[in-house]
Amino acid sequence: MSMNKKLALIGYGKMGRMIAQLAPEYGFEVAATIDLNDEFAKASSCDVAIEFTTPEAVVGNIQKLAAMKLPTVVGTTGWLAHMDQVRATVDQHKTALVWSPNFSIGVNVFFRLVREAALLLKDEPEYGAWAWEIHHDTKKDAPSGTLIKLVEEMKQAGYARNIDVGSNRAGRHPGTHDIGFDSAADTITLRHAARSREGFARGALKAAQWLVAEKRTGVFEFSDVIFGKTKT
Ligand SMILES: NC(=O)c1ccc[n+]([C@@H]2O[C@H](COP(=O)([O-])OP(=O)(O)OC[C@H]3O[C@@H](n4cnc5c(N)ncnc54)[C@H](OP(=O)(O)O)[C@@H]3O)[C@@H](O)[C@H]2O)c1
Repeated sequence: MSMNKKLALIGYGKMGRMIAQLAPEYGFEVAATIDLNDEFAKASSCDVAIEFTTPEAVVGNIQKLAAMKLPTVVGTTGWLAHMDQVRATVDQHKTALVWSPNFSIGVNVFFRLVREAALLLKDEPEYGAWAWEIHHDTKKDAPSGTLIKLVEEMKQAGYARNIDVGSNRAGRHPGTHDIGFDSAADTITLRHAARSREGFARGALKAAQWLVAEKRTGVFEFSDVIFGKTKT
């Protein structure tokens, strides 16, 4: 009998395929792949699911997976306006969900660095701020979920002035995010540049391992998985 845990992949596009390649390294056997119009019953014997689909599909998929009590990692972006509904569904079915607009460890460190910079500059009115990102031209949502989260981190740190937000979509770029602060005296630019999708896939698999091992219920962010609940 295999010792591997059974993984369901919801969405078998660029991210789903990358995760399938790396899954055995994390002790997972891909037991079900579900793309548009596939039956979710295929996933009923799985231990955990990873969902990378589309902003239009993700909330319905989360509801189906929660009703099956299948702990789920959600990488799809562009659905945060529905967070209250998702939280209620996960709580109602006493299951678990880990989400992040970005499953790279480096970006989750970047979130904290940006938060700290915003805190230090919130009372320095000569500094204006901008937030910018570029991704491949097949990415559907703009600005990216990661950029929205970066801006949110800045606001939560108390940076109340305008933050000028911009996005580009071109070529095959896996994702670069810049946060800048500019004054008459100087400019600070903080940048995270992804080299490939591999870091996102590895992070999602790490989150799936955590869900299987911890058997927690509720909604968690990837930062809870990698840093614990230590957010300040
Ligand atoms: N959080 C992160 O770290 C991270 C990293 C990268 C990407 N993302 C996000 O993850 C999502 C997917 O990215 P991707 O690059 O893998 O996109 P993609 O290559 O377009 O793949 C999406 C896949 O989902 C399938 N799909 C669509 N509707 C579905 C449904 N109702 N049920 C099941 N599967 C469905 C699509 O099938 P069809 O082709 O048949 O329509 C396609 O195979 C995007 O929202 C992207 O922004 C997040």
